[in-house]
Amino acid sequence: MDRNLALNLVRVTEAAALGAAKHMGRGDKNAADQAGVDGMRKMFDTINIEGTIVIGEGEMDEAPMLYIGEVVGSGGIKVDIAVDPVEGTNSVSKGLPNSIAVVAMAPRGCLLNAPDMYMNKIAVGPKAAGRIHLDAPIYKNLNATAEALNKSITDLTVTMLDRPRHDDLIKQCREAGARIKLFKDGDVAAALATCFTDTGVDMLVGIGGAPEGVISAAALKCLGGEFQGKLIPSNEEEKQRCIKMKIDVHKVLYMEDLIKGNEVYFAATGISDGELLKGVIYSEKGTAKTHSVVMRSETGTIRFVETIHKLNKKPKYAF
Ligand code: FBP
Repeated sequence: MDRNLALNLVRVTEAAALGAAKHMGRGDKNAADQAGVDGMRKMFDTINIEGTIVIGEGEMDEAPMLYIGEVVGSGGIKVDIAVDPVEGTNSVSKGLPNSIAVVAMAPRGCLLNAPDMYMNKIAVGPKAAGRIHLDAPIYKNLNATAEALNKSITDLTVTMLDRPRHDDLIKQCREAGARIKLFKDGDVAAALATCFTDTGVDMLVGIGGAPEGVISAAALKCLGGEFQGKLIPSNEEEKQRCIKMKIDVHKVLYMEDLIKGNEVYFAATGISDGELLKGVIYSEKGTAKTHSVVMRSETGTIRFVETIHKLNKKPKYAF
């Protein structure tokens, strides 16, 4: 894939973030999501790819745009695309932190087409990569990560979604002595945070969405971190979907199962403020600032992009 496509992906996540951020704190998560989708969809049309959405807003009959199977782009190299125009829709609608617009792209057939169900996850940054296992007891993973980071376990910070389903996991982490940081929504941003020491986050664990798991794995592949996941079908229909997709639900999905090869691109733009990316800032009339990160796994280059948008000069993208 042409390396400059990565920079075009930033335009795509910026457009989604600029659309969604207008709805921050307005209490309407559907409106925020729709605005993110609209911005993202319009920008995709300006990029020279033939991109098939493999992780998107839902099946064709559920979503008018960015549905699974939709082809986006103005034509060119065939790629697979995973999108989440608003990762953390509740956070945007309530004005809470950590919502991002996010895209991952890889050559055709290289992104796992994860079904929309729950996934049990573990993620760590580069130093602890290769030292964890999803099936191991949590205290072992915490100890191994602390050792890899040359930290005492009492200084280790593990993050997870604030959900009752994690009560037992929280108890086990506390018993092991680790610090815990709960968050309301947005486990892609939390997975990313494990790869940047300044965030103070060392490990993500717990159950979140499977599509978000694949997107997180794409980011961690670029960053040299490690992500593992296991699908959790919650009913017979979900079990059948896994069987149809030939995914063994008892098997841990490793980086290579989630993202094949070493040619994945990832971009994210902050919608609301997060540990890694600031949210959209509106300054003088018609001007907005966005903060993004863009990466390619082949080179491992991490670019932070701060962009000032003159919105009144972009009527086509009237955000
Ligand atoms: P949405 O933006 O689709 O609402 O997802 C937000 C999110 O917090 C994800 O980051 C996470 O994987 C998932 O929801 C967790 O699901 P649930 O809210 O059902 O616990």
